[in-house]
Amino acid sequence: MISYLKASSIFAVETENTSLLLKADNDGILRTLYYGKKISYPEETFFLNPSVYQYKASNEKRPLRPEFPTRQCAYYCTPCLSVIFPDKTRDLRLEYDSFKISENNSRLEIYLFDKTYMLKVALIYKTYDGLDLIDKNCCITNLNNESVTLTSARSAAVTPEWNVNYRLTTFAGSWGAEYKKHSINLCQGKFSIGNTRGTAGSHQNIPFFALDDTNATETCGNVWYGLLHYSGDFVIDFEYDFTEQLTVSAGINEFDTRIELGYGESYETPVFTTGFSSAGFEKMTETLYDYQYSHLLPQTKIKNIFPIIYNTWYPYKFDVDSEKCLSFIDKAKEIGAELFVIDDGWFGRRESDATDGLGDWYCHKRKFPDGLKIIADKVHSLSMKFGLWIEPEMVNLKSDLYKEHPEWVITNNNLSPSMIRNQCVLNLARDDVKEFVWDTCDRLISEFDLDYLKWDMNAYFTETGKSDGDFRIRYIKNLYGIWERINKKYPHVLLENCASGGGRADYGLAKYSDRINRSDNSDPVDVLKLHEGFSTIFLPRLTGGAGNIAQSPHTLNGRTTPLKFRATLGMTGSMSVGVNILKSDENEFGELKYYISEYKKIRHITQNAYFYRISSSFENPYTVWEYLAKDKRAAVIFVFAHGMNFKNLVPLQKLRGLNGSKIYKIYGEDRNDPDKFRTVHGDTLMNFGIKIEPFGDYFSQILRIEEA
Ligand code: DGJ
Repeated sequence: MISYLKASSIFAVETENTSLLLKADNDGILRTLYYGKKISYPEETFFLNPSVYQYKASNEKRPLRPEFPTRQCAYYCTPCLSVIFPDKTRDLRLEYDSFKISENNSRLEIYLFDKTYMLKVALIYKTYDGLDLIDKNCCITNLNNESVTLTSARSAAVTPEWNVNYRLTTFAGSWGAEYKKHSINLCQGKFSIGNTRGTAGSHQNIPFFALDDTNATETCGNVWYGLLHYSGDFVIDFEYDFTEQLTVSAGINEFDTRIELGYGESYETPVFTTGFSSAGFEKMTETLYDYQYSHLLPQTKIKNIFPIIYNTWYPYKFDVDSEKCLSFIDKAKEIGAELFVIDDGWFGRRESDATDGLGDWYCHKRKFPDGLKIIADKVHSLSMKFGLWIEPEMVNLKSDLYKEHPEWVITNNNLSPSMIRNQCVLNLARDDVKEFVWDTCDRLISEFDLDYLKWDMNAYFTETGKSDGDFRIRYIKNLYGIWERINKKYPHVLLENCASGGGRADYGLAKYSDRINRSDNSDPVDVLKLHEGFSTIFLPRLTGGAGNIAQSPHTLNGRTTPLKFRATLGMTGSMSVGVNILKSDENEFGELKYYISEYKKIRHITQNAYFYRISSSFENPYTVWEYLAKDKRAAVIFVFAHGMNFKNLVPLQKLRGLNGSKIYKIYGEDRNDPDKFRTVHGDTLMNFGIKIEPFGDYFSQILRIEEA
């Protein structure tokens, strides 16, 4: 609910439990009065909290933070918008002009205006019923006859409560080690997260943050958080200044970007979702799940159960061929898989990632002499779905595509390109490249009747040559444009967002994705940690990867783990099998089949469930996760042990989110008879807890809880 309170001229952007209060001051500057727990009588803040405050040991008064800081007045924090006007002036005086509230009071536009240079900025706010978050972004329009240059244009800023010692939590890492939780206490100065690699950002830093007063836990305390919907270069700055005010500003990283706006032209920034939880980090995650489920993710497919995948990557890497695929399909069907995906290696002259192929999206003649259609037909004849891997943003220098279009590559003509994975990045900012990529996807989907497209991306920008203004932005815009087009033309086709594992784990591309490759690391002990990071932000159903049930021993750490452990872990996301079933013995094959059938009994709960880290893998030699159905009528508890010592005693595990007065059946406690159950009140499960007794290396267990 958004309202404008006339008496106090306050804008109240309210959600069920939060308020963002804004006010244009006498000097015309729009300021943030407050963002946090809901204020029921927002007008009273006007009297209690004048628009200036006095700071310690001085009589000097300091204005409150502008809601959208620019290079104006005496604010020295990073501007959200920097410009160069035609006469080379760089100061900008944005004053409050007017506003519009629409969409049933869920959308607000506040218009700021620079009268001298006729630059208009619309600050846009969007709220959603029942969700404690606000989408913010802005749209800049040049109404001057001459063109203006934007040297930075961030989406928005957030000003959380003043005078709090903030702890910042982010997720950072690298290939195979994404989503590592980092926490630091902010002090006076500036801390920044971001990326400048062009094609993807989230291997190194997820465009996400959470801030608390250092005491918040999973279930208690105030947490301010935000996510930028962007897959390319981004920046989020945290500036804690001498007045003890923290300002967070987020947007596209301006390090190599300039935007020219001619007369009447507008530029709209990516969305920056900001939220506040007064009940710790878990409530933040719950809200983000609801947001994804009801608004962000492709809505035509979200209600469907996500199918179980068999993928060729881990078993055969580049060495796939027609014969292997045809044999795989029968076996995959037999174990209960529902979607067969041919990964890398099926096209051009592709033999390895050191050679050739990227760009030539036609069947590899030796490996698939009869083409892919016979494979697609066989898959479909068994009532399974068919999927294909593609990396359409890239090209190998030996490919036919490169011979035909060397000018399509992003490069510096004076230097030989520094290649990542022996490949070059196509300039997707060009319209002809965009059309080529779209045509390729369109052709493959229709020719092979694809139900699933795994879009991979394995290299960043290196040398980019002459400055080309906003080409980095156009690259990502065209990427999203193609994904949007696929979703529109083929609303049933499932899209996997893969970028060398989790390089594009962000809400920008998630908007068009049905599944995200969490990581190329599928070693189950590492996955316990990767998943806790990933699932803080992403719904369980999005948890992808070429093989969530991995092979063992795992190549990354050389660790050997039992199939039960790997398969149980594979049930915590959208399941994909990466074990070579052409080589499985009878036992392994039978076991796999059994675990897949067990997963089919719980996936309607787990795929869209709320996720509670009851005992975190970071803190204990055991891990307990609760997946609670959205209607709270059922839950699945996963228990894993990974390095128990000294006959560790495990405390009772207190469940969360159940209905205290309801009676639940609890199954699976008796290892010998998982179907035996007892009945207990939700209240007892949450306040007294349940007993778990992990025993032995790589123990795993599933407990099911159902309303009686
Ligand atoms: C990286 C992906 O993350 C893997 O799943 C696999 O598709 C390979 N690329 C193929 O080259």
